[in-house]
This record gives sequence, structure tokens and C-alpha cells, in this order.
Amino acid sequence: MAFDAHASGLTIAVIGTGTMGRGIVQVSAAGGMNVIAFDEKPGAAQAAKDYIEKILGGLVEKGRMTGEDAAAAVGRIRVASAIEDVAKAHVVIEAIVERLDIKQPLFQKLDAMCGPEVILASNTSSLPVTAIGAKCARPERVAGLHFFNPVPLMKLVEVIPGLKTAAWVTEALMVIGRRMTREPVLCVDSPGFIVNHAGRGITEAQRVLIERIATHSEIDRVLTGAPGFKLGPFALADMVGMDIGHAVQESFFQQFYGEPGYVPSPLTALRVAGGMYGRKTQQGWYTYTNDKLVEVPVAPAPKALPKSVWVQPSASHPELQAPLLDLFKKAGVEVESSASPSATAVIVATPVGYDVSTIVSELKLDAKRTVAVDVLFGLKGPRSLMVSPATSPIVRDQAHALLASDGQQVVVINDSPGFIAQRVVAQIVNVGCQIAQRGIATPADIDKAVKLGLGYPYGPMEWGDLIGPRRVFFILNRLAEFYDEPRYRPSPWLKRRVLLGLPLSAPEGRDLLTGQA
Ligand code: NAI
Repeated sequence: MAFDAHASGLTIAVIGTGTMGRGIVQVSAAGGMNVIAFDEKPGAAQAAKDYIEKILGGLVEKGRMTGEDAAAAVGRIRVASAIEDVAKAHVVIEAIVERLDIKQPLFQKLDAMCGPEVILASNTSSLPVTAIGAKCARPERVAGLHFFNPVPLMKLVEVIPGLKTAAWVTEALMVIGRRMTREPVLCVDSPGFIVNHAGRGITEAQRVLIERIATHSEIDRVLTGAPGFKLGPFALADMVGMDIGHAVQESFFQQFYGEPGYVPSPLTALRVAGGMYGRKTQQGWYTYTNDKLVEVPVAPAPKALPKSVWVQPSASHPELQAPLLDLFKKAGVEVESSASPSATAVIVATPVGYDVSTIVSELKLDAKRTVAVDVLFGLKGPRSLMVSPATSPIVRDQAHALLASDGQQVVVINDSPGFIAQRVVAQIVNVGCQIAQRGIATPADIDKAVKLGLGYPYGPMEWGDLIGPRRVFFILNRLAEFYDEPRYRPSPWLKRRVLLGLPLSAPEGRDLLTGQA
């Protein structure tokens, strides 16, 4: 099929001009393509065009677009009064309600109405693309083209061929995505595609909460500190709305037939049952007044420092431990350098993957005097100070004072293998590896999709390579051993690359995704 995705007169039709559709109309027109906009609700397509004109006008005022370009883009948008008008387009993008029983008949109708060379794409976020095209006579021209909200600001677009989609359709959509100034990534038709699948890793934060290792606001504070997340998972859940987020989690878990790593949170279920959805109900994990999050108060750090501290020497990561030793010395306390702690020293461990209880038991340390500090992501606060059920409150407060002695914040957390950040990031890397292992996308596309779609500081493969695949593997194995749960089973993708000393970005020996040898 000779479909010219580069053609200058290319026309895109958008069906459904709500939140997503109007964004798709905007980026198509701004990208130089003609657009036919249709919505079954009378006046909705015209309202979308007016809205886009206003938005582009705003960009002109800010000097981000010329008046000429804005007028030309608006001039390329035509409002259709009947669905039959979309048959004149080269590509039809559907952005209507997320229901298979409504999308399927629409695609059947479009299939009968449009010429054989017209591409039919769906912006579905959760339905199988293969199912949407299943009733069409020509399912080979049906594909997924998944944009993110708000479309003009979110550069990512997932291109998803269904099982019957022809290669020319996928190739054309990749080109068209770029013409819309998007960053297209190729993704196999599977639950959650790339971004919503990769987003499962962060649900480890919910496990941390379920076990009362820390409160929701403390978990958010830790993850937005040194690990560098822009928004904590609980603040994000409130923003998305837990009614929607929890339904997605449940559907995702079902679509993967009960994959233990993707189990939804009963704590979220309770909030949904109580109508505490988040921002939209002014109460979720956090409370809001007039749409503004009410900050959870943070208690001031204790002041009394210990006389001396003994830091358990690390053979595996002395370079990560060094800044902590410096901090303790600067605070003016004695940092003991003997092979074992004195009878009164506060004992500080800096484990990767271990909890305090295991360290105390394995190294036969004094449980009352032992605490742990997470140094894996550096010392930018809030710092995690971990205690066990046996840690004396006096030692806990002295260690807290010492760790906060340069003014950085400290979050005291209960015992957890891998603190908070280590286990959450390890699970994000592991889920990324699982996506690669299932051949859903290439490592490079997984990284790109996660950075652009979820706003994480690194993609999962990149992050794993930065921390070191061996270290991530170690953290997961410690979690798997401690909890004895398949949830923490390292992905074969990760295990194999650790065994071979390869980076996580290393492709399979035979690439079954692109079909290249
Ligand atoms: P929306 O409710 O804002 O807009 C849907 C529009 O489609 C409405 O204007 C409605 O009048 C129109 N419509 C419904 N049935 C129609 C039909 N049979 N023919 C013509 N027009 C029809 O919905 P939204 O949020 O824009 O979602 C649209 C699609 O995009 C869904 O499949 C959704 O899953 C997907 N999506 C949504 C995202 C979001 O954040 N809202 C993100 C990515 C994908």
C-alpha cells in the first residue's frame, strides 16, 4: 500500500473533540496537516475549534508562535456536521468514550465508509487495539495512537499495532506522530501499553504504606527528595482521582491474570469506597481547602547529639558511605574507627537491600543501639533514618539529631528491606525489565516513554544502569527472600544481564520485536 505519510495535503479526521480530541486536533493542525473535527454532540467540534483558536492566540501573545502560523493552523481545521465527512481524510483518529461496545461499532462503520487506504486509529488508553478492529472487514488498517493529557504539552505518543495491523499503517503513524511534533514510541498491543504498564512499579509505595513503614506524606517526601520524583505517588493519586486510578489498577491486575506485582491496594479501595477520591472531592490521601493541598506538619528534629557513632564499614559501597562519615565528623561527634563499636556508641548501618533486623541478627550488633541510613541516592534530604522494633527511642532521637545536623530534613521510618526509595526504584526497574522481556517495546522506547509519559527523572533501564544492574538485582533478591513473595522475583531480563555483565539496555540475542535477526 503506497501511503504517503509525508504528503503535504495530508488530512487527519478526529472523532470526539473532548479533552483528548481537541488536543489532537491542535497538534495536527499546528503540525501543518488539514483536520476534520467531528463530535456527535452538536456544537462540540466548533467549541473545540474556538478553544484551539484561543490557545494559539495565547501562544502568539507569549511570542511562542507567529500570528501568521496560528491563523494558518486554525484555518486548516474544518468542523464536520456529519460523520460521513470524515471519509475524506487519510487518517481517522477516534477519541470518544472509553467503551469497547461503542468503539467497535464505530470502527465497523468507519471501515465500511472509508476507502481501503484510510488509516483508522484509536486513542484508547486501556482497551486492546486488536479488539477495537476485530469487527472490521479490513482490520489491517486499524491501530492504536495513544496520546497523553494534556496533548499539546505531553510530547509522547504510543503507536500500537494490533495483531492484524499491516506494517505500512504502523510506519505511517510513526511519521505522522513526528509531524505532530510528538515523540512516537512503538508498542505491542498489551495491557497498559508502555506507560501505564511501567507505572505499576510505583505501586511499591503502597506496599510501604500498607506495612506502616511510613505515612503517605513521608513516603512522598522521601521520593521527591534524593530519588528526584517531581510528585510523590500519593499526591499524584489524589490529582488523577483515586476512583479512576484504582479502577485502572483493578483492570490491569485482571488483564494480567493476577500478576502478584500488580496487585491493587486495599487502602486505596477503602478511600474510594468512602468517596475520598482526591483533589476532586477535596479529600483523598491529603486534605484540600479551595483546591490547595493542606501540608502535613513536620515535627522539628531533636537536638541532643550522641557522644560517639560507629558506622558499620561497607565493603560494597564505601563511596556512598563517605559523605555520611563527613557529615558526622562535621557535627562534632566522635566517629569511632575501631573494628567494632564501643559499649555506648550509636551504631549506624548503610545497607542496600537489607533491613535493620537482618543486619542486627547477622552481624550480632546491639539491637537497641542500631539504626540505618539510606545512602544509595545520595544525602539530599529528606533523608531516611530506619529503626527496628528493638531500637531505643533515645538512640533513634540522637541519630535523628545527628543526621539533621546540617539542616536537612530526616524521615524516621520503620524497618524495611531497602528502606523506601531503594525498593520503589528497584521495582520500577524490574517492571521496565519485564516490559522489555515480554517484547512489548525496546529498552530505548521504554525509557523514553517513562520519562515523557510519567515524568520520572530516568527511564527504568537507564536508572537500573546508573544504580548498577547487580545492585538492583541484589535489592530485589533481598526483598524476595525477606517476604518470600513472587512479587519481588527479578525479571529474567535483569537476571541474564547481571549474569553476563551487560547493561539493561542490551537487546535480546534475537530481536523478536522488530523481527530483525
Ligand atoms: P471526553 O469525554 O472528554 O471526550 C469524548 C468526546 O467524544 C465527547 O466530546 C463526546 O461528545 C464525544 N463522543 C462520544 N461518543 C461519540 C461518538 N460515538 N461519536 C462522536 N463523538 C462521540 O473524553 P476524553 O477524556 O477526551 O477521552 C477520549 C478517549 O481518549 C478515551 O478513549 C480515553 O480513554 C482516551 N484517553 C483519555 C485520556 C485522558 O487523560 N482523558 C488520556 C489518554 C487517552
